[in-house]
Amino acid sequence: MKFLCILLLFAITSAYEITQLLVPLHADPRRAAELSCHFTMDEHRLHSVKWYRDMNEIFRYNPSQKPPIRLFNVSGIMVQSGECAAEWCAVRVMPPPVATRAAYTCEISTEGPKFLIARQTKYMTVSAMGDRAPVISGAPPLVRPGDQLMLNCSSDYSLPPSNINWYIDGELQKPEPWEQAVVSSPREGGLRASWRVLRVTAPARGSGALRVTCEAELPLEPPLLRDSSVLITVHSHTHPDKYVANRGQSSVLSLHLLKLSLIWTFMEIYRYMSL
Ligand SMILES: *[C@@H]1O[C@H](CO)[C@@H](O)[C@H](O)[C@H]1NC(C)=O
Ligand SMILES: *[C@@H]1O[C@H](CO)[C@@H](O)[C@H](O)[C@H]1NC(C)=O
Repeated sequence: MKFLCILLLFAITSAYEITQLLVPLHADPRRAAELSCHFTMDEHRLHSVKWYRDMNEIFRYNPSQKPPIRLFNVSGIMVQSGECAAEWCAVRVMPPPVATRAAYTCEISTEGPKFLIARQTKYMTVSAMGDRAPVISGAPPLVRPGDQLMLNCSSDYSLPPSNINWYIDGELQKPEPWEQAVVSSPREGGLRASWRVLRVTAPARGSGALRVTCEAELPLEPPLLRDSSVLITVHSHTHPDKYVANRGQSSVLSLHLLKLSLIWTFMEIYRYMSL
């Protein structure tokens, strides 16, 4: 009986707990992230709720103090606001504009004299994906065997910046030293775009097609991939200029014909007069 009582007492004293900790897995550096901690106190009275980022306290709720909420500015993180009720506490934090992963801990403590503590931790990674797939430029639809092309692939702005991989007919192209990716200067939230060129030589003989793919890889865990492809036709018998003949060229031609016919007319007149 005594044992049962102790067990029952233990069950009651351990009835305070964090029931749910909501921390987004990824946070966009351009927007505040919302984190919330839900708990039950049962027989206990709440003394305080604290939020930590890694080891640093960023927020404290102490219902018996005035003001009950205190925000702490920790370098690289800004707590915008917080709101608490009997069984939950939510904070809005502005993530730093760098690709980082940090631990967010919610800690509740009961009133004295015991000040019993319960805590839970979750991780949030700061990242932002672009809206569009990578864009390939400098790829004509039709080339001749042996033609040299300079392609350029640019990714959308993201955090961290994307790595760029080129494939020809599914085969990864190792970059030459001068073909390394270039990263732009940062925009709002630390987002950057990247681009990489690729020199392609069409096969020296025969006809066919090259499938060129550019892949933008956001280096997260797991990586996020996006790609775009172009099809370049290689044709030996067709002169590509034939397809780009324009009105400019045909009007030059008719001007020549006009000149020739004028010369011919003068020569005819001259011959007639000299008779
Ligand atoms: C935290 O720092 C930011 C900018 O440095 C400031 O605007 C904000 O008022 C500070 N918040 C607190 C609670 O001190
Ligand atoms: C490649 O494209 C990017 C983005 O449009 C541009 O800034 C860069 O100058 C281009 N590079 C070359 C070599 O054309």
